[in-house]
Amino acid sequence: MNEQIVSTENVHLYYGDFEALKGISMEFYDNQITALIGPSGCGKSTYLRLINRMNDLIPGVKITGKVNYDGKNVYDEGTDTVELRKKIGMVFQQPNPFPFSIYENVAYGLKIAGMKDKNKIDEIVERSLRKAAIWNEVKDKLDENALALSGGQQQRVCIARVLAIEPDVILLDEPTSALDPISSGKIERMLEELKKEYTIIIVTHNMQQASRISDRTAFFLDGNLIEVDDTRKIFTNPEKKETEDYISGRFG
Ligand SMILES: Nc1ncnc2c1ncn2[C@@H]1O[C@H](COP(=O)(O)OP(=O)(O)OP(=O)(O)O)[C@@H](O)[C@H]1O
Ligand SMILES: [Mg+2]
Repeated sequence: MNEQIVSTENVHLYYGDFEALKGISMEFYDNQITALIGPSGCGKSTYLRLINRMNDLIPGVKITGKVNYDGKNVYDEGTDTVELRKKIGMVFQQPNPFPFSIYENVAYGLKIAGMKDKNKIDEIVERSLRKAAIWNEVKDKLDENALALSGGQQQRVCIARVLAIEPDVILLDEPTSALDPISSGKIERMLEELKKEYTIIIVTHNMQQASRISDRTAFFLDGNLIEVDDTRKIFTNPEKKETEDYISGRFG
């Protein structure tokens, strides 16, 4: 049985007067990939950012409802958002490595956290790059600037950077949409490996990708969660007409 790691309960999110999420309740389980799909503007990124409080950084945002993680509502007063974002890491659409070496990118979070043992840091950097399926490509040039890598390589370094700080949950917002098919394939295979250890939530516009890699799929429309179910069910026999229309390409 997969353990429930994160859940949201009747979450509403407003940007000023605009209601971007209209009461979303949903659970996420470990060792699973959950895909969030739906047309542009339906609230996928907003919902993803809600989970590790990245929306806090946007002025004028109001949130009601609960996001449960580790036995608490992450919106409770006293939540340390820096700690929260270590446990619930995030990867963005555009690879965003820091403008320094590959090694330093991955070691960054460890050094910030005060780790000084060089051997230990070396070990974690290597392990993280291996898990991110990029070790073989970069092991001989760890001191080179990460910005000199291809987009697909940069994205895997960004994933290694998240893995180095040992998260429980990894949020990915269209992580392959800026990449070529070969790089995307590498990331998809990596995610299938990573789910053995993590809870993975991925926003994707690519329905083939969602059906290839995810265990569960959630369909969003206009700030509502229309349907969430086993991926196979969503793509072969959805309950709701809106889902059927979307997956068969009738809109979006
Ligand atoms: N910072 C913001 N301020 C105001 N409105 C916003 C902000 N970010 C998003 N919105 C609005 O909230 C709604 C949901 O946006 P969101 O980015 O979550 O959609 P999405 O499903 O991720 O779309 P896409 O597939 O294009 O990335 C949209 O109507 C958008 O215009
Ligand atoms: Mg988005």
